[in-house]
Amino acid sequence: MKDRISVEDLLSADHFERELRADVVKGFGSAQKSLPPKWFYDDEGSLLFERITGLPEYYPSRAEREILGDRAARIAETGARSLIELGSGSSEKTRILLDALHPEVYVPVDVSRGALEAAARGLSSAYPGLAVRAVVGDFQHDLRLPRFQAPRLLAFLGGTIGNLLPEQRERFLSDVRGLLEPGDALLVGADLVKDVPTLVAAYDDAEGVTAAFNKNVLKVLNRRLRADFDPEDFEHVARWDEDGERIEMRLRAVREVTAEFAELGLAVRFEKGEELLTETSAKFRPDGLRGELVRAGFEPRHWWTDAGARYGLCLAAVPPS
Ligand code: SAH
Ligand code: AVI
Repeated sequence: MKDRISVEDLLSADHFERELRADVVKGFGSAQKSLPPKWFYDDEGSLLFERITGLPEYYPSRAEREILGDRAARIAETGARSLIELGSGSSEKTRILLDALHPEVYVPVDVSRGALEAAARGLSSAYPGLAVRAVVGDFQHDLRLPRFQAPRLLAFLGGTIGNLLPEQRERFLSDVRGLLEPGDALLVGADLVKDVPTLVAAYDDAEGVTAAFNKNVLKVLNRRLRADFDPEDFEHVARWDEDGERIEMRLRAVREVTAEFAELGLAVRFEKGEELLTETSAKFRPDGLRGELVRAGFEPRHWWTDAGARYGLCLAAVPPS
């Protein structure tokens, strides 16, 4: 790779394995078996997510793209010289921001090294003047970044904020506030509460791509922890949780299953019908999200939605302390 691109790895292979082991021991040892959603995103998972973004049922990516297109000029008024993006994936929609902002530095941060490297390569040829400082890192784990040129815009797009539980969001937003200084800005995209059939269809598409994305986490466990899950033993479930105002993705055992993790010396048993909770995707109300941002020390300045009011984008300032 050329000098204009760098990929810094904040996650040692060892750290990653330890985290996965700990998540498995804790998650599979609980009455409600669960895993954090970050484990979806190996190379295959990242590609499957990209396919999801093009599905007719999965409106969030299109809605966010629409808002970014409409509001890019206003976002550029932040004057940001550095654009930092957490959970950047393919960085496809980010191009709208790069075209409007012309930052000197772009800092994509993601757990998925494959997605990050592919994005960095694509951006370096499309934006010859741009320095791409990619970071393989976990935005929920002690994320430390150099103080890139101020003012900075930190983007958290795609509705990924919804994949954090409320208490995780509180911690995350306070950590993000700690990465920024007065004069910087935060741009957050969030999917909104709406009718249940539209929401469920977005997570249970006719082509079965979301089902494959969900089941991919079993393949990640097989490869990384030498587990012996057969994805055919599970079916994809997408369910609206009214109380939590969130979509839950689950994998339901279609028969009694015993899986062994050779790497851990651990066996786990599923009753027929038992479910593994693999992702929660919270849907927001504008006041709820704005309140969370204010509590974390941000000053929401703009709230925009797409024409269908399905999805929201909030631009918030970091006020003088
Ligand atoms: N922002 C992109 C991608 C969203 S998919 C878009 O809007 O299309 C969510 C992305 O967040 C994936 O690329 C995934 O690898 C990354 N991700 C998930 N959990 C993460 C974590 N804890 N730390 C860093 N990246 C994470
Ligand atoms: C990345 N994240 C916001 C997606 C979502 O909608 O919660 C992940 C996803 N899961 C199923 N489809 C897409």
